[in-house]
Amino acid sequence: MRRSIATRLVVMFALAALATFSLIGAALYQVLERELTRHQDDDLNTNVQNMRYSIERVGDTERWARVQAKMDTLTPADGRVRFWVLSDDPRFQYGKGLDEFDRIVQTPDGHGTISLPQHHQRFRTLAQRIEPLGERPAVRLIVGVDAAPFAHTLRAFLSALPVLSLSAMLLVMLLGYWIARVGLHPLQRLSREAQALRPKTLSQRLQVARLPVELSDLATAFNGALGRLEDAYQQLEAFNADVAHELRTPLANLIGGTQVALSRPRSAAQFQEALQSNLEELERLRSIINDMLFLARADQGEAATGLVEVVVADEVATTIEFFEFILDETGSAVDVQGDLPARAAINVALFRRALSNLLQNAIEHSEPGARLGVRLAERAGLVWVSVANPGAPIAALHLPRLFDRFYRVDAARHDDGAHHGHGLGLAIVKAVAAMHGGSVAARSEAGVTTVGFSVRAAAPGAPDPLASGAALRPRVAGAVR
Ligand SMILES: Nc1ncnc2c1ncn2[C@@H]1O[C@H](COP(=O)(O)OP(=O)(O)OP(=O)(O)O)[C@@H](O)[C@H]1O
Ligand SMILES: [Mg+2]
Repeated sequence: MRRSIATRLVVMFALAALATFSLIGAALYQVLERELTRHQDDDLNTNVQNMRYSIERVGDTERWARVQAKMDTLTPADGRVRFWVLSDDPRFQYGKGLDEFDRIVQTPDGHGTISLPQHHQRFRTLAQRIEPLGERPAVRLIVGVDAAPFAHTLRAFLSALPVLSLSAMLLVMLLGYWIARVGLHPLQRLSREAQALRPKTLSQRLQVARLPVELSDLATAFNGALGRLEDAYQQLEAFNADVAHELRTPLANLIGGTQVALSRPRSAAQFQEALQSNLEELERLRSIINDMLFLARADQGEAATGLVEVVVADEVATTIEFFEFILDETGSAVDVQGDLPARAAINVALFRRALSNLLQNAIEHSEPGARLGVRLAERAGLVWVSVANPGAPIAALHLPRLFDRFYRVDAARHDDGAHHGHGLGLAIVKAVAAMHGGSVAARSEAGVTTVGFSVRAAAPGAPDPLASGAALRPRVAGAVR
């Protein structure tokens, strides 16, 4: 069952109150009992001292009569204080209730209690022996104070205690409920604010400043999550817009080309030409869609599979070979330098694809006859592969966004048809790097643009999987790192 915080607080308040009141009650009871007893004992002492003084000095029956009279006067009508004198000589005997003599005789010296069931009375007593004098034998003087009023007071206190404790507990529960309601108010406000959030109001944040300390951490964390959601949502929206935009151009070309071809009778050769041009546009569409699917898979955190440990410089050389023709055409050349022995466990096809994208960009953005450079560097467990080309500098504000999907520094250049890139090349480089546990970097200074990516380096001393003909699975590559 789900319990509310308010209920829990109220129950805890109630238990705490009950425990506190019970402890205080028990302590007060003890104090009261001790004080009442002390009060009775004081009363007894005074009376005993008083009578003892008189009896000690009496040794004959004549004066004994005076002592008895004194005791008579000291005995109040309500019988709250009683005197008894016990002696072997009946002449020197005194006291009411001597019919319950047996009980009175048993009273010990010093403090004690007597109960006289026939008289329905209980007394707290003080008994003392008094030495004989003259005719008078030794006697025992017993003074009793009625214990009933004190017992009554204690009983009244004891019966009031639970009633008081329970009412106090009820009061504390009511107050506790109110306190909990007031104390939890910010939480209710917070949940109302959170409930009001909609995808369209994702830029709204919970108001942390007005919250108590305990809740502000929660709200800050929630705001952080909202921020990330908003970013992702905006990215998704921008991405959708980009996709629509990118697909519209080839589709418009297809429709336009087809309409023109159909506008009047054509020869078979003309239709063939039109179909050929349509095919190019369709292939362009397919390549965009394939790239997008690849990026979507990489986005879901898919790691590269089919990893093979290679000397990176060898792979670089093989990839450059594919560009030989175009390099010859532009009269450009590529130098490879840096940590040539560096090794890495890679998916060869993905690695070549990433490096090709970089080389394509470098060739596109440099003058014919330029010297391009591929630099290898192994550091912090990563092998960096960077491609540098001389060319117009890229403004610093573009650098961090180069790897975004569909991002082109000069969008106009794309639309004039001179450039056929669709802005996914570097996004793919970034995805390939991520699939190999690496990252990307771009720099443009002193007329040289350098764009690079990294892959996880092979663990030093790891057995060469090529030697045994086995390919490293990514899980293994992660473990040996
Ligand atoms: N070597 C470079 N020199 C200058 N600008 C570059 C260089 N490499 C990339 N860029 C800029 O970065 C943008 C993004 O590059 P990216 O490779 O992602 O897309 P693209 O080359 O336009 O298209 P695609 O590679 O998909 O055919 C390019 O449009 C270009 O403006
Ligand atoms: Mg490119």
